[in-house]
Amino acid sequence: MSCGKHSFPPSVAWREEDMQCSSSVAATVLALPHTGLLDSLLTLTCRCADGEAHTPSWKEGWTLPSNASYNYALHKGGITFTVLNSRSSRVIFHKVFQLGLYWAHWADLEWHLQRVVPGRVVVLAVAVSGAVGLRHAATRLAALGSLFALHLPPAAHWTWVFVRGGRTLSETVTLPASGAHHAHLLLPLSTQPRPPDADPRWHYCAAHGAMGGLCDEHSPDPLPPPPPAPVARQAALANVPVIVTAGARHQYLYHTLTALLAAPGALRHNVLVVLGDAPQPTVNLLRLLGLNFTSVAVSGQHNDKLFRYYRAVFRLLERSFPDAPAAILLDEDVEVSPDFFSFFSQTLWLLHADPSLYCINAYSATGFRGIAHDPHTLQRASVQVEWGFAVTLDFIREVNAKWPSEPRENDVILYDAWLFQHGARGRECIFPEVSRSKHFGVGVNSEAWSTEMYFLSKPLVGRAHVPLLEVADMVWEPWQRRFTDSLRRATPLTGNPCGEDFVPRVNTPTTFVFFYKLSRKRDGQPDYHNFYFAAKCLNAWGVSDQGLHQQVLTVRISLLATLYLVGTPFSPYGHLRPPHVRPWRSETLTAQEEEVVMNRIKQFEMGEYRVTNLNVTADSLLDLLAGSGT
Ligand SMILES: *[C@@H]1O[C@H](CO)[C@@H](O)[C@H](O)[C@H]1NC(C)=O
Ligand SMILES: *[C@@H]1O[C@H](CO)[C@@H](O)[C@H](O)[C@H]1NC(C)=O
Ligand SMILES: *[C@@H]1O[C@H](CO)[C@@H](O)[C@H](O)[C@H]1NC(C)=O
Repeated sequence: MSCGKHSFPPSVAWREEDMQCSSSVAATVLALPHTGLLDSLLTLTCRCADGEAHTPSWKEGWTLPSNASYNYALHKGGITFTVLNSRSSRVIFHKVFQLGLYWAHWADLEWHLQRVVPGRVVVLAVAVSGAVGLRHAATRLAALGSLFALHLPPAAHWTWVFVRGGRTLSETVTLPASGAHHAHLLLPLSTQPRPPDADPRWHYCAAHGAMGGLCDEHSPDPLPPPPPAPVARQAALANVPVIVTAGARHQYLYHTLTALLAAPGALRHNVLVVLGDAPQPTVNLLRLLGLNFTSVAVSGQHNDKLFRYYRAVFRLLERSFPDAPAAILLDEDVEVSPDFFSFFSQTLWLLHADPSLYCINAYSATGFRGIAHDPHTLQRASVQVEWGFAVTLDFIREVNAKWPSEPRENDVILYDAWLFQHGARGRECIFPEVSRSKHFGVGVNSEAWSTEMYFLSKPLVGRAHVPLLEVADMVWEPWQRRFTDSLRRATPLTGNPCGEDFVPRVNTPTTFVFFYKLSRKRDGQPDYHNFYFAAKCLNAWGVSDQGLHQQVLTVRISLLATLYLVGTPFSPYGHLRPPHVRPWRSETLTAQEEEVVMNRIKQFEMGEYRVTNLNVTADSLLDLLAGSGT
């Protein structure tokens, strides 16, 4: 039996045969102080079965990336999360969740915790600072058996090692925390019989954690996933390839693909996964799922690399599916609604019927929490392709002809923004009032606040087969007529858009319109200053002109009340302003009104911002645990 030393990083380089420990592994978990220095977080000491017992034959942890690549000041540390194979102690998943940040990362930790199957060993340790951002994840950790998770003050150091679905092996906390904090324990190895390693699924699962039902030995997900029910207009999807762009994050990818393949109307043979980097584990996963995949060669870094990657994907589409009526594209971290294919089956034809459209998005540009109500309703506006979109092959050929291999100087290098700027040519997109897709991935470079506000909390339609209303009226002429009529009949609102009763309560379907001043800047572009405040007051997107139809934003205040924000005089609909209604300007707010605006926006943006356990001390925690809590 080999007890060889492994090399770094462990999750990549460890081999199963290097892990043959006899019955237990000595472990030291380290919670890090704020040194910004490299240190090891978990040290596992294997004791060999071949008579060398008690001689640590390998001893290695892993290190946080140096601050050359990982900016502590920016990320403020987090909680390291490691999943071990309980039979071999092999590291099968490792990620640092930036829980020194308040927003978003807690949801990602919860997402991963939910996907650790019973029997796995989980090791959690604070690195520098990780309790500020735990939020709802603390409740889940407590439900899994943590004694301290609900009571950690922001600067606490904490380590917890437990068996998922079983007992705690070690839990330690120091507060206040200054130096490094070591927790020593013995990990008992599981003696449960192994599932047959010759089975590709269990071979994969011995090496990969947080994969959810794929690796659940008690109730494994069926492989391949069973075909879902068809949708009413199944024929509309017949030759439409569904392209999933993917890389190394196979936990995300498995979730994305299983939701996709389970959505009624999904056709497995239409799905093609296109890999940028094609790491072997992703390839193995796709083989398990029995899906078609291919890879495209890409070079470069970050957005520059993505720009080339999507260019290569578009070229692949043109080559491989020249006769397809359309193609649907989504990324590895996009969860689709059960209604995803039903939605596309009812709308794809619009791309051919209306030359003033270039895309159909499953994602709702305007459907934020509180202002998305009706899953039967469609919107149309000027917008980028967004998380789960369809375009025609004609569009793909058209943009391929001008897509440069290198982003030009002064060019936007986000591919979707580039497509919008150079490919849309004034054309619009159709999207649902309530999203049929959710962008759930949380990246290291994600802006945590906007990830939570705009992506994670966006409502998603939870059922399938939703009949859409007035689809045929979404083509330009009838739509334009209806939209103009609706605006003409709308009741004008005046006053402070952040005011408490700005939009009156209604009992019957009612439309309102608010005219704000939107003039041209010196460069000819609209000045969205007033728009920003008006939109933000209503909890709508105000940061860019995405989701507007000719400078009109439609805000669904409730199922009954719809409000149009019309930028005048810039918008062609500006002339519908009755002469007695003055366009709103934020500059004319009194100091008092301005305070109302700022408070309202703050209320939306900070929501329930609350850092828990600020006042916990060692004494109060001891009191609490002793049951004399005050
Ligand atoms: C890490 O950060 C410290 C403090 O900012 C700095 O002195 C040091 O040079 C950095 N190390 C690296 C490898 O960038
Ligand atoms: C997937 O592979 C099958 C078998 O080779 C092929 O018939 C089908 O067209 C492929 N689908 C896609 C979307 O590439
Ligand atoms: C902490 O204590 C201060 C002072 O007693 C109090 O104002 C504050 O509300 C407490 N914070 C929390 C989160 O309990």
